[in-house]
Amino acid sequence: MSKRVLMQEAKNRIHVVFEREHCRSGMEQVPALSCIDEPGPLRACLDKLDHLVGLNGVKEFVKEIYAWLEINKRRRAVGLSADQQVLHMMFTGNPGTGKTTVARILAELFREMGVLSKGHLVEVERADLVGEYIGHTAQKTREHVKKALGGILFIDEAYSLARGGEKDFGKEAIDTMVKSMEDYCNDFILILAGYVEEMEHFLHTNPGLPSRFPIRLHFTDFSLDELMVIAENMLQERQYRLSLTAQEKLRHHLSKQLAVQDQPFGNARYIRNIVEQAIRNQAVRLLHMRYTSKEELMTIRGEDLRFHHHEEKQRIYSWYNEKG
Ligand SMILES: Nc1ncnc2c1ncn2[C@@H]1O[C@H](COP(=O)(O)OP(=O)(O)OP(=O)(O)O)[C@@H](O)[C@H]1O
Ligand SMILES: [Mg+2]
Repeated sequence: MSKRVLMQEAKNRIHVVFEREHCRSGMEQVPALSCIDEPGPLRACLDKLDHLVGLNGVKEFVKEIYAWLEINKRRRAVGLSADQQVLHMMFTGNPGTGKTTVARILAELFREMGVLSKGHLVEVERADLVGEYIGHTAQKTREHVKKALGGILFIDEAYSLARGGEKDFGKEAIDTMVKSMEDYCNDFILILAGYVEEMEHFLHTNPGLPSRFPIRLHFTDFSLDELMVIAENMLQERQYRLSLTAQEKLRHHLSKQLAVQDQPFGNARYIRNIVEQAIRNQAVRLLHMRYTSKEELMTIRGEDLRFHHHEEKQRIYSWYNEKG
């Protein structure tokens, strides 16, 4: 089939078909972590990560950690040393690129791999750490570190701790954190998250910081195809699907968004908001129908997808948006 010839004959239609095939082949890619032969809960965690769209760097990193732990076991078995490694990390990327989601899965994975004893995630931001008087910040920060022992302490928008300079209590939070990393060595993993430029600047505010975070994972913005796959997966999980018209409408809207945005617009979180809004719109549409088939109950039609003007202009943080 020559795509070019067919595109000349019926440009729009063939374009959509081609894109859909492309999209589906993305979904059918061999999952990066399927080669790890593990049963039980560890398999379930690996599958959760594999199920996330894109994020190849993160998946490769998990493979490395898994391999390192396995080889350490073999080394120990023959009497060789098997050293600990520093696993504190920095996540950079725009909103909605999966940082919190990945941190949560990593916490579980590390528990199943025996790196962390509990495997929970404590997510904090500046306001949770910075206090109002001298000593208050250190106390608040230590409390959160204690809560995170055995798991991951995830500091979102970590660069804001360096915002106020030398006199700001944010600096006290950083100093307390660095001290805790030494005190509790491998009892918890600290992940600092934020936008690339701000995090780079943040690291340079304290010469001791860069070497303490040897693992850097960058979360790239999703492509149009990835966003479409994310939408389809989200709907599938909820037992819905897009009609052909809805697929075209969503793809067209997203491509327009990607083309005009000079700012990231919320990535996968934006998709989740669209999906959830569409589900509500479909419910209202079906409410007054006397009979609704299973097919109808599952189908999101083009008319259920409504994109508001303000959504196209702003980063999407709707009023009901929860963290993570
Ligand atoms: N790779 C992915 N595949 C599928 N869904 C994803 C992916 N990444 C994120 N999501 C979904 O997008 C939503 C937002 O993700 P998440 O909260 O992890 O982003 P974030 O990077 O932490 O954003 P922020 O910087 O705003 O905190 C969640 O519902 C999550 O399930
Ligand atoms: Mg987050």
